[in-house]
Amino acid sequence: MSGSGTNLQALLDACASPDFGAEVVAVGADRDAIQGLTRASDAGIETFVRKVKDFGSREEWDAALAESVAAYEPDLVVSAGFMKLVGETFLDRFGGKTLNTHPALLPSFPGMHGARDALDYGVKVTGATLFIVDAGVDTGMIVDQVSVPVEDDDTEETLHERIKVVERSMLVESVGRIAREGYTVDGRRVRFGRA
Ligand code: GRF
Repeated sequence: MSGSGTNLQALLDACASPDFGAEVVAVGADRDAIQGLTRASDAGIETFVRKVKDFGSREEWDAALAESVAAYEPDLVVSAGFMKLVGETFLDRFGGKTLNTHPALLPSFPGMHGARDALDYGVKVTGATLFIVDAGVDTGMIVDQVSVPVEDDDTEETLHERIKVVERSMLVESVGRIAREGYTVDGRRVRFGRA
């Protein structure tokens, strides 16, 4: 993760309620001294850090990340503000159960600057997308989307902040539903509920 960890905090808060159906078993990051790690420790959750620069190659980092995540045997991996692409080893193990959120309505404006790119393009409606991570950049199957109107006086910051408000509730609601109901995939179409 590399933001301020508000998506993570929303999940931690939701998981505090037993009815939610999910618990956070661990929080991993690709850098240390970030707010998300503090948020996790404050909630009594185990944390780990795997930095790309500590490994000989991107592949070795990816394998170490996968190994660290696997140690906690998660049913679902949520990439909440984690701004690195995972590789083949990680996807071999956790493909199909790794979720990511993006601050734009995919497939529009993938990449690092979803809010800025939508604003610069001049769209009147943007939003957030929750998707199942695959090998591409923000190309995975869409689990949920929420829309946000663009205001005339928006800056990247004001727009991204408004997107983040709905992004957090979407993430929490979807993770809760997946934990309680599961999900099925038909082609690219994802639905809550077991087959
Ligand atoms: C979110 O908008 C996420 O989609 C994007 O960066 C932001 C992270 O926010 N990749 P936070 O760290 O959860 O507050």
